[in-house]
This record gives sequence, structure tokens and C-alpha cells, in this order.
Amino acid sequence: MTQRLKVSLGGMRVGELGQDPGGRIAFQYDPKWILEGFDLSPGSLNFEGLPQSPMRGVFDGLHGVFNDSLPDGWGLLLMDRVLQERMGLNRSQITPLHRLAYIGDRGMGAIEYAPMLLGGEDASLVDLSQLALQAEGVLMGSTEEVLKELRILGGSPGGARPKVTVAFSKDMKTCRSPFAVLPEGFTHWMVKFRDPSNSMIGDEIDSGRMEMVYAEMAKASGIEMPRTHLLELNLKGRREAYFAVERFDRVNSRKIHLLSLAGFAYANHREPCLDYGSGVLAATQKLTKSQQEVERAYRLMVFNVLAHNKDDHSKNFAYLYDLQEGRWRLSPGFDLTYSFGMSNQHTTSVNGSGLPVMADFKKVATDFRVQRWNNIVEEVAQGVSNWQALAKDMDLSQNRMVSVQSALDATRKRVFN
Ligand SMILES: Nc1ncnc2c1ncn2[C@@H]1O[C@H](COP(=O)(O)OP(=O)(O)OP(=O)(O)O)[C@@H](O)[C@H]1O
Ligand SMILES: [Mg+2]
Repeated sequence: MTQRLKVSLGGMRVGELGQDPGGRIAFQYDPKWILEGFDLSPGSLNFEGLPQSPMRGVFDGLHGVFNDSLPDGWGLLLMDRVLQERMGLNRSQITPLHRLAYIGDRGMGAIEYAPMLLGGEDASLVDLSQLALQAEGVLMGSTEEVLKELRILGGSPGGARPKVTVAFSKDMKTCRSPFAVLPEGFTHWMVKFRDPSNSMIGDEIDSGRMEMVYAEMAKASGIEMPRTHLLELNLKGRREAYFAVERFDRVNSRKIHLLSLAGFAYANHREPCLDYGSGVLAATQKLTKSQQEVERAYRLMVFNVLAHNKDDHSKNFAYLYDLQEGRWRLSPGFDLTYSFGMSNQHTTSVNGSGLPVMADFKKVATDFRVQRWNNIVEEVAQGVSNWQALAKDMDLSQNRMVSVQSALDATRKRVFN
């Protein structure tokens, strides 16, 4: 092994990752962790002390659960620029272990890696307007150098859109780096900026307001959601409103282990490779062993369909394991917004269909013994019917209200027909 990384969680050593000169990555649990800890990804890691390779080759030779510590499009772009600038590594020389070492103890979820590459720095004061402008500059190609603040705060979260992790005071008026010890009353949040250069992910000017409305619709549909906040910023005279969401992988300063469905199932989130039944609900059953959690996943499926959230890929489902509680559960809802998926079909199919109807809901309910599934569908339909009122409260444009309403109406007609 040439490269080695210590893996830890909650201050305890979990094991070690290593890469041999041929590039093969292996992970080995620490014997003490096996006695006192828990399996980071039951069924897709072996909970035993021998070195183990990833189950499948989809994540550049990395195990699914560790791949979850790495960012996607946005964070990787920042990371690669910095590794090139500061360490002279070009893309072909960067290995997954370099990337994990770069993430160090700043990753989403609870897993930490040591020794850290380029650690020791922090960005204590946070000017969100400046960060939003910087993020736009980087994406539009007009900013070459990545400011330290953006690199540190924007470097860890996944997802295609530019975003930062920060800490807010109770009144949401003071924003600090989340990586230092937080003053009393501060909590952990994620702020999603906008990518004006990327028409593929549909980042419209009102995407922050839209995600706010969808969070409210989800709550009205019985879906557990974190606290959300519309952050209105002045960007050199231009006003922008961004979606901010409280992080569910932090409880005060305690880190909660987060495992995405992509990581658990080795499912590439860029491809439509899953079905709700055999993918989402089966994974929920296997991990949580709880019918209540299976029903939460079922409700989320119905919401995604009725609310036209078609970008429902494998990284948009996640599970939390709290060491103190000692159990797995489906995370609260996230990334719920008006979206089109690929070819205007759901990325995760329902009973094999990318454009599901009631019979598909029924089949999944029967397969997973979801009692009262009719009520769930009815409650979600009720929640989604609040679109106009919520969109008005959030100051979405008349055009937007009408066009989304007509898509929701068409979906309803297809499902309930
Ligand atoms: N409230 C939250 N607490 C903790 N982690 C979160 C929260 N919301 C999202 N995440 C994590 O951050 C990642 C990125 O967030 P999100 O999916 O909202 O971004 P996105 O850029 O819109 O994603 P996509 O590429 O799917 O469009 C998610 O995959 C999830 O792991
Ligand atoms: Mg996402």
C-alpha cells in the first residue's frame, strides 16, 4: 500500500483505507470498532476485520459509503482547481484518496479522514454575497482564482449546484464558518446558490423561491422537512434569493452518519438505474427494518410524482445512523423541487414506469404492505394542491404559477385517470 488514510467517526477510529501502486483501494475495519461501533453500510461492506475491496467498480474504485464523502460537480470543480494550484496535481494524477484527504474532517455526514491535505486553515467570517458572486464567477469562467472562503465552505457538499455550508445565528443575521467551535445558538445550514451557466439543471432566477415553495408543499403533504429559510442577498445592486436549509447531519456540534442510496446500492446517480420498489423501498426496509420508515419512503415517492420532481436520482435519497440512538432512518426530505429529470421522466421509476399512474402506486403498496396507501396518496394530492397559494406567498411570477400549475394538473390527470 502506498497511500493510507485513517478513517474515524465521533472521535473513534473506524479503520483504514489504502491504495496499492496499481491503484486498487481497500478498506479494513479496526477490530475495536467492530466491537463497539456499527456497520457503516450494512450489506455493501463486510462488517469484519479483513481488507475489503469495493463491491462494484462504479465510484472510481472507491467504496460507496466513502464516495459519499466526496462532492459532485460543484465541489469537485473547486477541489481540482485547488489541488492543481497548490499541489501541482493535474486531474489524471488525482486519486480518490487524495480527494478524501482533501475533505479531511470537513465532509458531509460524520466520517473523517486523516492526515488531511491542506488542512489547518479556516474561514471565520462569512460574507455570503461575496461568496455567491465568487461562485458565479467560477462557473461562468470569469474568475480563475478560488478564494479561500469559497474553497473551504463550498468544498464539501454534494450535488450539481454551487452551494456552501455555513452556521447561522438564531435570528439568521450572522453567518460564520461551520468548521470552528460555534457560539451559543448557532446551527448548521447549507445555502444553495445558482449556476447561471448550466441550463441542464434548470437553475432559473427563481430557483431559491421555488425550492422554498416545494419545502412547504412537502410539509403540507406530511413529509418531514428540515427548517428552511429564504436568504435575500444584495449582489452589487442585484437582488437574489437563495434557498437555505438546516442540516440534518448535524445535531448541535454532533455529526450524524449519512449514507446515500447511491452509496449504499452502488447506484450511479447520473443514470436512471433504480426503481422505487426494488431500489428505494427495499433499501429502506433492509436498513431501517421499520415499516414506518418504508411508509415514509412511499410518501416521498408519491410526492415526487404528484409534485413533478422528476430529478429523483439515487443521491437524492439518504439514510441517517445516529450512534446515540443506534438505529437507521430515512433522512428528512431534501432537493425537492420542480424538475424534469431526463427526457421529462422520473429518474427513479415506479413499478418500471417513468410516468407512473395509480396502478403503479397500488402495486408498490401491495408489494411493501403499505396500509392506508390510498390515504397517503390523497394527503399528498391535498398538500400539492396548495401550490398556487404558497407560490403567491413566495412572490413567484404569474407566468411561473401558471406553467407549474398546468404541469401539476396534467400529472394529476395522468395519475388519477
Ligand atoms: N438539509 C440537509 N442536511 C444535510 N445534508 C443535506 C441536506 N440537504 C442536502 N444534503 C446533502 O447535500 C447534497 C446536495 O444537496 P442537494 O441535493 O439539495 O443539491 P443539488 O445541487 O440541488 O443536487 P442535484 O445535483 O441532485 O440537483 C445532497 O445529495 C445531500 O447529501
Ligand atoms: Mg441533489
